[in-house]
Amino acid sequence: MTIGFAFTGSFCTFSQVIPQIEKIVKAGHTVIPIFSDTSYKTDTRFGEAKKFREKVEQITGHEVWHTVTQTEPIGPQKLLDVLVVAPCDSNTLAKLANGINDTAVTMACKSHLRNGRAVVLAISTNDALGFSAKNIGTLLAFRDYYFVPFGQDDFKKKPRSMVAYFNLILPTVEAAVRGEQIQPILR
Ligand SMILES: Cc1cc2nc3c(=O)[nH]c(=O)nc-3n(C[C@H](O)[C@H](O)[C@H](O)COP(=O)(O)O)c2cc1C
Repeated sequence: MTIGFAFTGSFCTFSQVIPQIEKIVKAGHTVIPIFSDTSYKTDTRFGEAKKFREKVEQITGHEVWHTVTQTEPIGPQKLLDVLVVAPCDSNTLAKLANGINDTAVTMACKSHLRNGRAVVLAISTNDALGFSAKNIGTLLAFRDYYFVPFGQDDFKKKPRSMVAYFNLILPTVEAAVRGEQIQPILR
C-alpha cells in the first residue's frame, strides 16, 4: 500500500511515533511523510524540527510534504491508499471536525477523503476529555475516519488527557482499508 503519514504538533510523542513508521516500511509499504507547518518548523524541548524531518525522510526515502500545494493533489491523483495522522493533536482534530483546511495535514485529509478512502487518527491531547471530546465524537461519527485505540495516559496528573496506543497504528490501518474499525477503541 501507499500510506500517507502525517505529523501534527504533539511534539512529546514524535519519538514514540517514528518507530511505528519503521515498522510500516519493514512490512513492505510505501510511506509518504507529511508535516503540518508547526511540526515542520518548530524546535521544542523534545527535539529539533530538522532532526525529526530528516529521520522520517531517511526511514521512508521520501521528502516531507509540508505545504497545501504539495498535499492538494492527493485526492485528484489518487496518490494514497490510506492516510494516517499520528500524532493527531487537538488543533488538527478541531479543524478536521469543522471542515477547516489550512495546513498540509488538513488539506491532505480533505483531498484524500473525496476518494472515499480511510483516514486513521492517532490522537494525543491533554483535553481529549475536555474541549476536544466533542471533536473526537464528531469524527467518530464520520464514515471514513478510523481511530487508533486510545486511553487515559496519566489520569492522576492529567485527568482529561488521552493518547493513542501508537503500536496499534499498523493493525488499525490494515483494518481500516477493509472498512473496519479495530476494537476495542477505548483501552
Ligand atoms: C512542546 C509542545 C508540545 C505540545 N504538545 C501537544 C500535544 O501533545 N497535544 C496537543 O493537542 N497539542 C500540543 N501542542 C500544541 C500544538 O503544537 C499547537 O496547537 C499547534 O498550533 C498545532 O498545530 P498543528 O495542528 O497544525 O500541527 C504542543 C505544543 C508545544 C510547543
